[in-house]
Amino acid sequence: MVYPIVAFGSPVLKRVAQDVEVPSDETVQFIEDLFETMYASKGVGLAAPQVGLSSRIFVVDGSPFSEDAASPEEAEVLKTFKRAFINPVILEESGEAWGFEEGCLSIPDIHETVQRKPSILIEYQTPEGEFIEETFTGLPARIIQHEYDHIEGILFLDRLTPLKRRMLRGRLSDISSGKVSASYRMVFNVK
Ligand code: NI
Repeated sequence: MVYPIVAFGSPVLKRVAQDVEVPSDETVQFIEDLFETMYASKGVGLAAPQVGLSSRIFVVDGSPFSEDAASPEEAEVLKTFKRAFINPVILEESGEAWGFEEGCLSIPDIHETVQRKPSILIEYQTPEGEFIEETFTGLPARIIQHEYDHIEGILFLDRLTPLKRRMLRGRLSDISSGKVSASYRMVFNVK
């Protein structure tokens, strides 16, 4: 099932999401729907709050980014970087912050450079309830950091300078009031 994407301005995007119980058939089905929704809207990551559910779940598939990779090794990682993260906790972020132009399905047509650290250590659960600890660097790490922000109620806009945000104010208010055209279905002001 393809969900509509929750647009910027919706309170659910600002809320800290709740842990989920795994294993559960419901979560398995939800993750399948989240992937389907992400592919339908051509994203490389999608978090549960973006379909209106305030749960600590997000999915990623970085394969469309493999051509943007900084090295052949990173390109290889991105090609198979498809995963669901349940109840994730970023345990460590390290390295010198670097900039990359990010976008977000909830904020169509706005792309801005965001600074993030290049390396992360993350713990998460699989749909079977197993705990996994993994290190990611470069673009895979960035995709995770962006999605992880979503379950913390943070948008990439919150990481821009106040000046940048002020410059975007008009376009953002258009998005939140539904004056936006996206290639996928959107919903507005979702609590
Ligand atoms: Ni996003």
